[in-house]
Amino acid sequence: MKERLHWLAMHGFFRGAAAIGVRRGDLNSRLVADPQVAADPVPFYDEVRARGALVKSRVSYLAVDHALAGELLRSEDFRVLMMGSNLPGPIAWLEQRTRDDLLHPLRPPSLLAVEPPNHTRYRKSVSAVFTPRAVAGLRDRVEQTAVGLLEQLPDESGVVDIVARYCSQLPVAIISDILGVPDQDRGRVLEFGELAAPSLDIGLPWRQYRSVQRGIAGFNFWLADHLRELRRSPSDSLMSQLIQTSESGPAETHLDDTELLAIAGLVLAAGFETTVNLLSNGIRMLLDAPEHLRTLRERPELWPNTVEEILRLDSPVQLTARVALKDVELAGKQINRGDLIVVYLAAANRDPAVFPDPHRFDIERPNAGRHLAFSGGRHFCLGAALARAEGEVGLRTFFEHFPDVCAAGVGSRRGTRVLRGWSTLPVALGRARSMAGIDS
Ligand code: HEM
Repeated sequence: MKERLHWLAMHGFFRGAAAIGVRRGDLNSRLVADPQVAADPVPFYDEVRARGALVKSRVSYLAVDHALAGELLRSEDFRVLMMGSNLPGPIAWLEQRTRDDLLHPLRPPSLLAVEPPNHTRYRKSVSAVFTPRAVAGLRDRVEQTAVGLLEQLPDESGVVDIVARYCSQLPVAIISDILGVPDQDRGRVLEFGELAAPSLDIGLPWRQYRSVQRGIAGFNFWLADHLRELRRSPSDSLMSQLIQTSESGPAETHLDDTELLAIAGLVLAAGFETTVNLLSNGIRMLLDAPEHLRTLRERPELWPNTVEEILRLDSPVQLTARVALKDVELAGKQINRGDLIVVYLAAANRDPAVFPDPHRFDIERPNAGRHLAFSGGRHFCLGAALARAEGEVGLRTFFEHFPDVCAAGVGSRRGTRVLRGWSTLPVALGRARSMAGIDS
């Protein structure tokens, strides 16, 4: 009963209102409930942009302009959104009384839901172990894992779902290394991640909400056990180092158990499904652009820029949100304290004022890296360097190993709206080339 009431507060009411709003053309409602926007959001970004840089909708503003989005993300006048905090009075009351006490990416002490001083303290602790040197070390591990996975795929006549067999497997292996997850638990971690991926969306149907809750609960219990185990027998994983730093390091890096759990949970949640989407989006875009694959074969130094262009054009995280801490003027509009602004990262990434001919996939675009796919300001993605390495090494290794690969069907998009990627992508692999460059 409690769970049902919580769903009603968080999703049910909004679903009902959004269904009416879609018919009336309300922009917020279309963002969460219009199937056409879910299938292809690009015409929607352009429609919003045609109305202005900052557009008022029923429950929030929508920011689609690149400069404005950047300003908002860096501003001290706005804070991140905490789950349930912006619901109207009686619904907020119901949500608070029916919520469980499980960790959630949008609930404190998750990094994504806190601001300084706690945010500064958490970032300091994580940055102490998640150093550029540690990430550089992980790059070799990405390459070995990618090759290992690709060598297990069939060749010649093989048609495989590349999302299940490769795009999902690579990030889960890397995140598991970071968190010290034993091999036998990786399948479960993958399952929890997939179940919980829609947790950032609002307006979920009841059945999907339940499966998200199952994923979050399973993950919470598993993670608590796992951290206990890491305390008993430390490994050389970054998570073990984080535990040690938080116990014996300087006072400002001390983390209590709930904070440690929230950080580990978020690293897993934020670093897993997003990177799966980067890989699947990239594979799909490149299969549709054989001319770019030819160029990349001749000029492999273009891979890093190609990854930036993929992040720009098919952003794995489409949007985030900020809440005004005080009355401010923004883009000529009066914003009141408590107002919600949806920062549409994917739309900012196609702002024609910054990216000429914005819808064109151009792997040589000189400023592709100016995208906001990793957000900006103090919440800038903590795993951006690792995600870039996984994208670059993961995609390059795949296309080098299977030079004749082609699409073998249309595939299907994930049902999530905040996160965007493919749930299946059938490909015909063709002949495999050994990584030493000798045909097998
Ligand atoms: C293509 C892959 C990825 C994308 C597109 C992505 C995107 C993002 C975005 C947009 C945010 C900020 C949201 C906001 O401002 O409200 C974020 C934050 C974060 N990301 Fe990533 N991410 C990716 C991969 C990763 C990886 C691999 C990790 C960890 C290993 C990671 C860990 C985090 C963490 C911990 C935060 C919270 C930072 C904070 O709030 O201070 N992400 N990410």
